[in-house]
Amino acid sequence: MQNFFSATLSKITLLAIVFQLLINNAAGAPVVGKEKKQNIIFMVSDGMGVANVGLARQYNEIVNKVEFPATLFIEDYLIGTIRTRSNNSLITDSAAAGTALANGFKTYNNAIGVDSDGKPIGSIGEALKLAGYKVGLVVTTSICDATPAVFAAHAKSRFNQSLIAEQLLGLNHPLGRIPDVLIGGGREYFQSNSTNPKGVRSDGRDLIEEVTSNKTWSYSGDRQSFDALDKGKNISLPFLGLYTEGNYPYFIDRNSSIPSLAEQVEVAITALEEATKDSDQGFFLMIEGSRIDHTGHANDAPAMVKETLEYVDVYKNVVNWAENSDVDTVIVSVSDHETGGVTLNAKKPSSYKPIINATHSGEYLLDQIINFDGKNDDEKFKQFIKTEIFEDGLGIYDYTEDEVSRIKNIELKKTDKISVSLAQITNLTNSRAKIGYASLDHTSVDVNVYAYANNFRLAYKVRDPETGLAGAHENVDYVTFIESITDINLSEVTEKIQDIQLIE
Ligand SMILES: *[C@@H]1O[C@H](CO)[C@@H](O)[C@H](O)[C@H]1NC(C)=O
Ligand SMILES: *[C@@H]1O[C@H](CO)[C@@H](O)[C@H](O)[C@H]1NC(C)=O
Ligand SMILES: *[C@@H]1O[C@H](CO)[C@@H](O)[C@H](O)[C@H]1NC(C)=O
Ligand SMILES: *[C@@H]1O[C@H](CO)[C@@H](O)[C@H](O)[C@H]1NC(C)=O
Ligand SMILES: *[C@@H]1O[C@H](CO)[C@@H](O)[C@H](O)[C@H]1NC(C)=O
Ligand SMILES: *[C@@H]1O[C@H](CO)[C@@H](O)[C@H](O)[C@H]1NC(C)=O
Ligand SMILES: *[C@@H]1O[C@H](CO)[C@@H](O)[C@H](O)[C@H]1NC(C)=O
Ligand SMILES: *[C@@H]1O[C@H](CO)[C@@H](O)[C@H](O)[C@H]1NC(C)=O
Ligand SMILES: *[C@@H]1O[C@H](CO)[C@@H](O)[C@H](O)[C@H]1NC(C)=O
Ligand SMILES: [Zn+2]
Repeated sequence: MQNFFSATLSKITLLAIVFQLLINNAAGAPVVGKEKKQNIIFMVSDGMGVANVGLARQYNEIVNKVEFPATLFIEDYLIGTIRTRSNNSLITDSAAAGTALANGFKTYNNAIGVDSDGKPIGSIGEALKLAGYKVGLVVTTSICDATPAVFAAHAKSRFNQSLIAEQLLGLNHPLGRIPDVLIGGGREYFQSNSTNPKGVRSDGRDLIEEVTSNKTWSYSGDRQSFDALDKGKNISLPFLGLYTEGNYPYFIDRNSSIPSLAEQVEVAITALEEATKDSDQGFFLMIEGSRIDHTGHANDAPAMVKETLEYVDVYKNVVNWAENSDVDTVIVSVSDHETGGVTLNAKKPSSYKPIINATHSGEYLLDQIINFDGKNDDEKFKQFIKTEIFEDGLGIYDYTEDEVSRIKNIELKKTDKISVSLAQITNLTNSRAKIGYASLDHTSVDVNVYAYANNFRLAYKVRDPETGLAGAHENVDYVTFIESITDINLSEVTEKIQDIQLIE
C-alpha cells in the first residue's frame, strides 16, 4: 500500500476505513511499532511561507498553462503547521529554528546545537548516526550555514563557519564524523586565507587538501567530477561535494556548471541507499532549499518563484523515489520560518508578466551595476540601466525616468544591509506585479508542514496529533516525532558531547 497522502477521494476513504479498523483493534496498534529498517528524509524550505507556495502555484498555472484548479504536487501532502518563535525572540533566525527542529530545544537566535544557556545538546543527526543510520546533508548555501550545521555541529554562533566546517568533517567532534554525504557550497570555510585567495580560514589549514591526502573523504568540486559520480552510482563515502566558495547562485541565475538541488539529491539518495542496502538501518537525509530565504530578504519575487519551484520539484522527486523503495521511508518537509512577509495583491494573471519576464535576480543585477565601469559617463550609465537592467534583466519595458534614476543612484547610497539596496531593484517588479513585502527580514507567521510515508506504520505515526505532526505544532515537536519512530535518546547524545569546542 502506497501513496497514503495523495489527495484522491478513494484513497482518503480507504485510509479512513483502515484507521478506523486500527483504532477499533482491541489488541492495540502493533503495526505502528519502531523496530523496522527505515529511511528518514527531512526537507527544509528555508523561509518559505504560504504565500510563496501560492505565488509559485499561480506562476506555474500561467506559464505552463495548467488548467485550474492547478495545485503544486507538494500541496496535496499538507498535514499541518508549525509555530516558529525562538527562546529570545518572537521572530526566529535559521539557527534557533534549526536547533529546535534538529535538537528539540528552543534557544537563542544564532545558536547552533546549544541550548539557551549555551550548553551543547545532541541532535537527531548525531543520535541516528549512533543508532547505525547513514547521514547526508544537501543544501544550496554554504554547507556550514545554520540549517545543515545543527544536524552535526555545535557552536555558540552560526557565524563561526570555519569551526562548523571542522566539526562536519569529524574533527574536534567527540562522536567523530557524523555525515557520510555533504553536498553544497561554502568551500571558502574549508580553505586557508594564507594559501588560497578565496579561503577564509585564519588557521592556515586547507581541510579539503587534508581530507584528500588523508584519504578520509572523497571530494568533488566541479561539474566534471560531479558527472563522474554517475548519479551516485560511482561514489565513495564519506563524500564531500562543494561547488561554490559561498552560497550557490539563485536558480534563476544559475547555469549547469553548478549541479541543481535535484541532481545533488539524486546522487545523495543513490549513494545512501547503496551504502545501507545490507544494513539493519537506513539513512537520514536532510535536504534544504536554502536560498528561498534570501529571496525573501531581497523581496525578490521572480527569484523566489524559481527557488520555490526547484524545491517543490525536489519534493516530488523524493516522493516518487520513496514510492518505489522497499525500505519504509518517511518524508517531512517544513519551513524554519517565513521571510519577507509576502502578500499577493494582483487580481489579474497578467499582472504577473514582470515576474515571468525577469531573467535574473536583483542580486545578480546589483552585481552588474556595481561592476559596470562606465559610470562616469552619465548617458552611458543611463543607457546601461535601461537596456541591461530594466529590459534584459527585469524584462520591464515601461520604465519611467524616475525609476531609472532611482536605480542609477542605488550604488552611491551606503546602506548597512545589502537587502535595502536589493529591495530598490525588486521594487520595480513588485509594484507592477502587486506583490507586497512587509519586511526585509523573517516574520513570525506559522509555516506549513508536508509529509509522506510509503507505508502505513510511518504514515500513521507522522499523522498522530500527539507525537506526530498533524495539526498545529511547535517546531520542537519534529524531534518528538523522530523519537516516536526510533529508539534514539537525545539526552544520551547530549551527555557524550559536553566537551565539544563551541567557539573558534
Ligand atoms: C528561554 O530559556 C529560558 C532558560 O532556559 C527559559 O526559562 C524560558 O522559559 C525560555 N523561554 C522560551 C520562550 O522558550
Ligand atoms: C565566532 O563566534 C564568536 C562569538 O561566539 C565571535 O566573537 C567570533 O568573531 C566568531 N568568529 C568568526 C570567525 O566568525
Ligand atoms: C587571515 O585571517 C586572519 C584573521 O582574520 C588575519 O589576521 C590574517 O591577516 C589573514 N591572512 C591573510 C594572508 O590574509
Ligand atoms: C589529516 O591527518 C593529520 C595527521 O594524522 C591530522 O593531524 C589531521 O587532523 C587530518 N586532517 C583531517 C582534515 O582529517
Ligand atoms: C568513477 O569515479 C572515478 C573517480 O573517483 C573516475 O576516475 C571514473 O572515471 C568514474 N567512472 C565513471 C564511469 O564515470
Ligand atoms: C556559468 O556560471 C558561472 C558562474 O556561476 C560562470 O562563471 C560561467 O561562465 C557560466 N557558464 C556559462 C556557459 O554561461
Ligand atoms: C515582457 O517582455 C516582452 C519582450 O520579451 C515585452 O514586449 C513586454 O512588454 C514585457 N512585459 C512587461 C510587462 O514589461
Ligand atoms: C516601490 O517603491 C516606491 C518608491 O519608493 C514606493 O512608493 C512603493 O510603495 C514601492 N512599492 C512596492 C510594491 O514595494
Ligand atoms: C535517555 O537517556 C537519559 C540519559 O542517559 C536517561 O536518563 C533517560 O532515562 C533515557 N530515556 C529513555 C526514554 O530511555
Ligand atoms: Zn534569513
